[in-house]
Amino acid sequence: MTPLVGEMSPAAAESVYFNEYPPPKALPKHEALARAFIELHVEANRRVVLVTSGGTTVPLEAQTVRFIDNFSAGTRGATSAEYFLEQGYAVIFLHRQYSLLPYSRHYSHSTNCFLDFMDEAPPSADSSNPGDGPIMVRDEYQDQMRSVLRKYRYAKQNNRLLLLPFTTVSEYMFELRSLAKLMRPLNENALFYLAAAVSDFFIPRSRMAEHKIQSSELPPHMQGSAVDPDEIYTGENEEQPSNRKKLVVNLDPVPKFLHQLVDGWAPEGSMVVSFKLETDPSLLVYKARTALQRYSHHLVIGNLLSTRKWEVVFITPDEPHERWIRVPKSRRSKSISGVEDQVGLAEAMKGKSPSVEQLEAEQAAEGQRDGIEIESLIIPELVKLHMKMVEKKKKKPAE
Ligand code: PMT
Repeated sequence: MTPLVGEMSPAAAESVYFNEYPPPKALPKHEALARAFIELHVEANRRVVLVTSGGTTVPLEAQTVRFIDNFSAGTRGATSAEYFLEQGYAVIFLHRQYSLLPYSRHYSHSTNCFLDFMDEAPPSADSSNPGDGPIMVRDEYQDQMRSVLRKYRYAKQNNRLLLLPFTTVSEYMFELRSLAKLMRPLNENALFYLAAAVSDFFIPRSRMAEHKIQSSELPPHMQGSAVDPDEIYTGENEEQPSNRKKLVVNLDPVPKFLHQLVDGWAPEGSMVVSFKLETDPSLLVYKARTALQRYSHHLVIGNLLSTRKWEVVFITPDEPHERWIRVPKSRRSKSISGVEDQVGLAEAMKGKSPSVEQLEAEQAAEGQRDGIEIESLIIPELVKLHMKMVEKKKKKPAE
């Protein structure tokens, strides 16, 4: 029996996977843009981070009408990209199309609809259009919008931010592989920050239906022999039943490719940071640690779905191995989907109490009420780790 792609050696899985799918149409254009962007920053000896962001879709049909998706809005990635830019990094932002983007995220989607920030000013007498006043930003948002606009324009005018979209899981894979290889001239100045929620399951191209999966009657000329009413249509390339059926989707595991990223595609000396998302607090640290051991990279950032806006855990190969980063209580912004009561649960389940560092942070934040984003704490800590790696590499004589 042919092994599943997920069961093969990493190299075999890579060759099977990438031969099965056509590369995304936009890949040559993205590669050209990325090549020019990277060259510019290699010349400037600037650190460059590849931030992946948002979910991936898993098409059910080659001519895709339906697909499986996940919850990720790209908040982590888009927010982190802004803090990396603040730290002087150039950012390649590989994101799910239409997910949140750095800077514009403050004024997009239904939660921050840009129209709510605007108003019509009264018409001025000398205007050529006496009945209509200019469109303006409302008074209460002027300062915030000016600050976001300045940062956005700075990033754009100085070529610090490259936005590259993907939609499906296979597009993501092709883009990641190409970008990692293009980043090689950056050596230790390259950082990979893999915040995307990449699907773990997919339908291989060979088993995918070409056309829209039918849920009801087909015209007489397309109907085959009578279908047993108990027969279940699997969504694969088999004859489609004419009567209404369940749809049972049979998915294969997606190869992880983190091995290849760390050991092959990525530049020598670069830093690779992956994320681990769990919903069960008792599993988080274990799963994050296992991922670090399996792929031998540099950092796994663990987060729980319910508390991800307020706490994360850094799992590293070096001391202290496990370090929690939390937004102090008084500075947590509200989240509709989050469950604040669960903050601290994953750590407490391992019999640990909050660190001295955290208690100090709580004390320092007392009396401060403005909400802060957890990425404003994550990125500076991560940059310190990256800098340490860069310094170490520079001190080490060339091998
Ligand atoms: O977008 P938000 O709503 O803000 O949510 C952010 C987030 C919760 C999605 C993010 O913080 C996060 O945790 N992302 C990773 C989710 C996860 O658990 O991924 P994973 O276990 O499937 O993969 C582990 C790591 O490998 C991830 O860094 C992933 O980006 C990467 N990966 C996974 C599979 C694959 N084929 N290729 C990959 O690069």
